[in-house]
Amino acid sequence: MRPCIICHMLSSADGRIDGAALEAVSGRGLYEAAGGKLQGDAWICGRTTMQLHFADQEPFVSASNIPAGPRPIHVARQAGSYAVSVDTRGTLRWSKSEIDGDHLICVVSEQAPEDYLAMLRERGISYIVRGGASVDLPAAVELLGRHFGIRRLLLEGGGRINGGFLEQGLVDEVSLLLAPGIDGRQGVPAVFDGMTSTRNGAVPLRLKSVERLEHGVLWIRYEVVRG
Ligand SMILES: NC(=O)c1ccc[n+]([C@@H]2O[C@H](COP(=O)([O-])OP(=O)(O)OC[C@H]3O[C@@H](n4cnc5c(N)ncnc54)[C@H](OP(=O)(O)O)[C@@H]3O)[C@@H](O)[C@H]2O)c1
Repeated sequence: MRPCIICHMLSSADGRIDGAALEAVSGRGLYEAAGGKLQGDAWICGRTTMQLHFADQEPFVSASNIPAGPRPIHVARQAGSYAVSVDTRGTLRWSKSEIDGDHLICVVSEQAPEDYLAMLRERGISYIVRGGASVDLPAAVELLGRHFGIRRLLLEGGGRINGGFLEQGLVDEVSLLLAPGIDGRQGVPAVFDGMTSTRNGAVPLRLKSVERLEHGVLWIRYEVVRG
């Protein structure tokens, strides 16, 4: 039931992913246009990216602060397309149940407090609670397939959530827009970041295609080679 997972990202030639810094060298709209061609029925982002670009500015503050523990999945409604956030402790505040027309699903761990889940239910937002101290990504994506019918999931950053998916063997394809520019700043996340595994060497990829887009941007598609 697990969806096919394609990591779709825009990066500098040195692999960094600060979108604002890349605008000057890649133009606007190329990332979204290429993403549309991947025909995903859902997209997923880490908590930091959701906080920066999509959630309410003020975080959620729990009155109880008591972890809810294991809870059943809540399907507020079915939709044609979905936006999914991964937020371990339930800190993102949402005032709407959609992002640009995509129904919102919040994936949290058992650390998320009950009043957080109540806020989501009240606003018509779906949620999945999986994992004790951290989100159990394999179980969560399985449920995205089973309960929402998601078949092609676009993993859209940032670097840490991408690294988390890759470490769990959940990335099938990488779709990389490589912009002709160098960022070079220490501390700016890379396409895949924060991985802790002790594997020897890089995760192998098989080149599927390369396309030259406007502004000298390269659209490179890879298949992840399973070990
Ligand atoms: N160029 C692009 O295509 C592109 C696309 C997206 C984002 N971005 C940029 O990427 C930057 C943010 O990237 P980031 O790496 O700092 O953050 P991120 O990947 O957006 O979010 C990371 C957070 O997600 C949560 N998370 C939950 N489960 C996780 C797991 N299993 N593995 C990893 N993280 C998990 C953690 O926060 P909790 O523990 O609090 O839950 C973690 O700190 C921003 O500058 C954004 O603009 C660029």
